[in-house]
Amino acid sequence: MNERKRIPDTPALGKKGGKLHSKRVPLVAGNWKMNTTLVQATSLARNMLGELDGVNGVEKVLCPPFISLAAVHEVLRGSSVKLGAQNMHFEEKGAYTGEVSPAMLAGLCEFVILGHSERRQHFGETDQIVNKKIVLALKNKLRPILCIGERLEDKKSGKTEEIIAGQIAGGLDSVDATREIVIAYEPVWAIGTGISASGEKAAATIGFIRHAVGRLWNSNVAQDLVVLYGGSVTGSNIAEFISYPEIDGALVGGASLQPSEFVSIVSQTAAIKGGSAGS
Ligand code: PGA
Repeated sequence: MNERKRIPDTPALGKKGGKLHSKRVPLVAGNWKMNTTLVQATSLARNMLGELDGVNGVEKVLCPPFISLAAVHEVLRGSSVKLGAQNMHFEEKGAYTGEVSPAMLAGLCEFVILGHSERRQHFGETDQIVNKKIVLALKNKLRPILCIGERLEDKKSGKTEEIIAGQIAGGLDSVDATREIVIAYEPVWAIGTGISASGEKAAATIGFIRHAVGRLWNSNVAQDLVVLYGGSVTGSNIAEFISYPEIDGALVGGASLQPSEFVSIVSQTAAIKGGSAGS
């Protein structure tokens, strides 16, 4: 494989256009977090399914709570909308009361969110734990959506790149280069706060992320990786992000619980990135 000397996306920063690197398929994932009962989750999925299914050229992923995965899987069956889990345990099986193993998700889900900042913050997940989960997810044919991002204090003290480089090096330690991983850049201060990053800043940081992955693996794989922005994304601001070629889509929390918002985010992504919003 030819190693590219330069990362072509980086010089394009600030120039909006939104077109993707040819191999990257845009992706929008909805992280429902600890919301929806079984009945609510199935009806939420049903409410969005028709419109989401009609959007081409974007991977659409719903990530309901564990308890609703099987039911939502049934709702999505035969459609182009995919299922993801929000977490999983770092061991294959065993005496871990209350936990969910990768094998339990395999066959049901295609994706699994790993290292979300809420897991890091409230459940003490370290880069080492996230790394074990990444390895096991890949082994079980699940595509990890690896979440990384700086806290407000890191940003204020100018440590964003240092923190992100550490999360990449730690999370992907000893992982062979693979295009199966999706990275979600989610500044912690932007999650659930209504204060999103600017598109320009997010694009610059994502350029840095590809650079860091390129150094760890190689620049060809880094260029092919799908990298998302997450943090207070809505139907009103999605265009600001995906208009940058560096940003391949979004990981959406709050707005993914509102069908019209989520459909709008997905449709705009398709339109800007060159897919189609169906009929
Ligand atoms: P938010 O959450 O869209 O509600 O900010 C994003 C996330 O946590 O992935």
